[in-house]
Amino acid sequence: MRVLVIGSGGREHALCRSLKLDPQVVELHCAPGNPGIEEIATVHAVTPTDPGQVAGLATRLGADLVVVGPEAPLVAGVADAVRAAGIACFGPSRDAAMIEGSKAFAKDVMAAAGVPTARARVCVTEEEAAAALDEFGAPYVVKDDGLAAGKGVVVTGDREVALEHARACERVVIEEFLDGPEVSLFALCDGGTAVALQPAQDFKRAYDGDEGPNTGGMGAYTPLPWAPEELTEQVMREVVHPTIGELARRGLPYQGVLYVGLALTAKGPKVVEFNARFGDPEAQVLLDRLETPLAGLLAACATGTLGEQAPPAFRPGSAVIVVVAAENYPEAPVKGDVIEGLEPTEHAYVIHAGTRRVDGEVLSDGGRVLGVVGTGPDQESARRHAYELVSRIELRGSFHRTDIARTDTARTDTARTDTARPDAPRTDIARTDIAR
Ligand code: AMP
Ligand code: GLY
Repeated sequence: MRVLVIGSGGREHALCRSLKLDPQVVELHCAPGNPGIEEIATVHAVTPTDPGQVAGLATRLGADLVVVGPEAPLVAGVADAVRAAGIACFGPSRDAAMIEGSKAFAKDVMAAAGVPTARARVCVTEEEAAAALDEFGAPYVVKDDGLAAGKGVVVTGDREVALEHARACERVVIEEFLDGPEVSLFALCDGGTAVALQPAQDFKRAYDGDEGPNTGGMGAYTPLPWAPEELTEQVMREVVHPTIGELARRGLPYQGVLYVGLALTAKGPKVVEFNARFGDPEAQVLLDRLETPLAGLLAACATGTLGEQAPPAFRPGSAVIVVVAAENYPEAPVKGDVIEGLEPTEHAYVIHAGTRRVDGEVLSDGGRVLGVVGTGPDQESARRHAYELVSRIELRGSFHRTDIARTDTARTDTARTDTARPDAPRTDIARTDIAR
C-alpha cells in the first residue's frame, strides 16, 4: 500500500510511526510533515487545506490511501476531493466533519439521535444569550459555534465575562456545565460500522493541578485503569452508533475517526464535544499500544470493510505522553530555539509536534514543541520513563506539566452531580481555541 498522511503535528508523527510498522505499507508519504516525520516518510510541500493540491499530490504519488490528520483540511473538503479523484481516504467529508466544525450542528444531531449531552441553546442576540445564561446558571459555558478561530470555549463563574464572550461571537452555543472526570474515546468508522479504541485521558490546562489556560493538551495516557469496564460499550451504544446512524440518515456517511469527548457525570457519560479526527496528544499513546496493523484498519474505514476486520487489539501495559511546550505557550509561544536531547531511551521516545530543521539543527516552531512518550508494564513505570527522557531535553524557556498520569492524584473522583452548582461561582476562564 502507498499511503499519504496529511498534517504536520505530533498526531501525524505518531500516525506515520505506526503506519511505517505495518508490513502492508510499501511507501509512506507525508505532507507537509515535520523533522520527526522526515526520518521515516518522504515529505512533500503542500497547503494541507487546499483540496486540489492534496488530491493532485495523492494522484501523482499513486497513493492507495490518504489519511487526513487535522480538522482544518477535513472542514475544507480535502477528503471529498481525494475521494473524487478515485482514491480511498480516511477522514470524513466536509459536511460530515461539521460534527466538529459547528457546535450547533453537533447539538442538532445529538438531539435527533437521543445522545446524552449538556442541554444547550443556540444564541445569536445578546438577549438570547442572557436568557440562556440565566436558564442554566453558573458555572457558565459559552462556545463559539464555528471552528475555534481565535475565540473558542469559555467556562466561567462570571456572568459578565460569559456575556462578553457571547457578544464577541456571531453565534454561540450556551450550555449547562457538566461535572465529572473527562475521558476521550475514539471510534473508527467506515460509514456504517464503528469500532472503539481504548479510552484515554488528556490534560487540557497548561499548568500542574489543572491550573492556567486551556491548551491543545499537555499530556495523556492510556489505558484508564479506573474507568468502568462497561464504559466503552455504553458509549458505543448510547453515543457512537446513534450519532453515525443519524449522520447516515442525513446522507452523511461518516468515514474516519469520531472523537467523543465525554464527562462522566453522576447521571452517566455525557458528550462534551465531538471532533472529526484523532485527539492530539491522545492519539500518540493509543497508537503506541495498538497492536493491529494501522494501515489495514484505516484502509478498511476508507473502503467500508471494517466489518470484515478483527476488532482493534491493544498490547498490554501503559503509555504516557508528556508535552514539552515553548516559553509563553499558549498565549504567544516563543519559536526558533535549538532543541537538544532528542535521542530515544529504551522505553521512551520523542514525537515532533512544533519543530523545523535548519542546517541540520532542530528548532522549536510551535506552541506544543515535542511530546515524549514513555511505555511500561504499568502506568507508573510508563510515566517514569517519559519523565526521564523529558529531563534530558534541552530547550530554552520550555516547560511541561509534572503531574501527567499521576496515580495518587488521578482525576477520577466520581462526579458530584451534573445539575447542582458549586456554591461559589468559578472564576476560571477556559479558552480552548488557543494554539491547538
Ligand atoms: P470543547 O471545545 O467543546 O471541547 O470544550 C473544551 C473544554 O471545555 C472541554 O474539554 C471541557 O474541559 C470544557 N467544557 C466544554 N463544555 C463543557 C461543559 N458543558 N461543562 C463543563 N466543561 C465543559
Ligand atoms: N487533546 C484534545 C484534542 O485533540 O482536541
